[in-house]
Amino acid sequence: MDLFNALYSDDGRRDPYPVYAALRRIGPVVEVMDGFLIATSYAAVDEVLRDANFGVERAPLIADQTSLLTMNPPDHTRVRRLMSGAFTPRRVHGLRDAIADQATALIDAMRGDGGGRADLMADFAYRLPVNVICELLGVPEKDRTWFRSVAADSTVVLEGTATLEELDAARSAGELLRAYFKHLVKARRPGLIADLAEADGLTEGELLGNLSLLLIAGFETTSNLIGNGVMTLLEHPFSKSIDDPVAYVEEFLRYDSPVQLTSRIALAPTVLSGRSVQAGTYVLALIGSANRDEARFDNADRFDPARPNNVPISFGAGAHFCLGAALARLEAQIAFPLLLQGLPGLRLDGTPVRRERLVLRGYESLPIAWN
Ligand code: HEM
Repeated sequence: MDLFNALYSDDGRRDPYPVYAALRRIGPVVEVMDGFLIATSYAAVDEVLRDANFGVERAPLIADQTSLLTMNPPDHTRVRRLMSGAFTPRRVHGLRDAIADQATALIDAMRGDGGGRADLMADFAYRLPVNVICELLGVPEKDRTWFRSVAADSTVVLEGTATLEELDAARSAGELLRAYFKHLVKARRPGLIADLAEADGLTEGELLGNLSLLLIAGFETTSNLIGNGVMTLLEHPFSKSIDDPVAYVEEFLRYDSPVQLTSRIALAPTVLSGRSVQAGTYVLALIGSANRDEARFDNADRFDPARPNNVPISFGAGAHFCLGAALARLEAQIAFPLLLQGLPGLRLDGTPVRRERLVLRGYESLPIAWN
């Protein structure tokens, strides 16, 4: 229980890795109290996420509005099939040039008016994924400016420590997005919104809930992959050129995962890491800890893009495996080399400000300078 509290303390949120290590020393599965377990090892986190006896139990904030993240089979299976159909690898890879153009334009803008300085989060890490997901969905350019605060308001519910005021703000943000997407569905602009609206078999609540999910999941996390990755590079000066973007991005994902944890509930009696688990047991799956598990990764606390067989569990596993993993990876693989090329001598220019979040780990601002 002390370690659980330590995780959610200010220090724990700032740097959860020592707490994870202490939890792993206790075991792959730690009992916090009766009916509440924490999966700490790579194998245990993977097992929870893949075992169909575990499901999600997340009450939607807005009545009648559900998304993949709040659904279990058979509804999850039906909706996920429809959405992956509209979200094909071909469609994602078709975005390669658009992503490179957007990234180049943002870097040019920073170089043009920044006087050699910028806030990486506001000026790049946030904007690139927003522009990309909005292109994919068909969200008009003029509407893209207000999403950052809406996303910040609505994702606070994931933290499990939200205050009543924060929950109210999250609900209002959700209502705002719902109304906005309802309007876009009517407007019938070409893009994923129109495709999903035309797909047979989604209720209105499922359509609007999943559009909001795609928008929010599509940039909060990817912004943090870019921010955390740049920070990791700056803290490891030996590695300031990126020879293999694919390997670097996998290691950024592992070393400082943008999503640190998720949760499941046992829908039926099952077994986890060799121990029996009763139906109704709640399990916190520590993705960030699994990625630093010495039993899975040699020298797990070391940043090493050359590590062999590097498969971080940052996108989850099993039925809810991230639908946008290919897109997020592609964005980062394109962005990092362009950033380092376009901003030579990239360095910190002040104190980065962390967000007070455990689940979605990242920076509020990251002041940078270059030559
Ligand atoms: C670095 C960036 C990203 C990370 C680390 C990430 C991480 C995750 C994780 C861990 C899950 C599983 C949650 C669970 O099992 O409870 C998930 C689910 C999901 N992600 Fe991502 N994600 C990223 C980017 C994206 C992008 C770009 C999109 C959309 C374009 C996206 C859309 C989704 C959706 C729709 C789900 C729900 C899938 C389901 O429940 O079946 N994500 N993501």
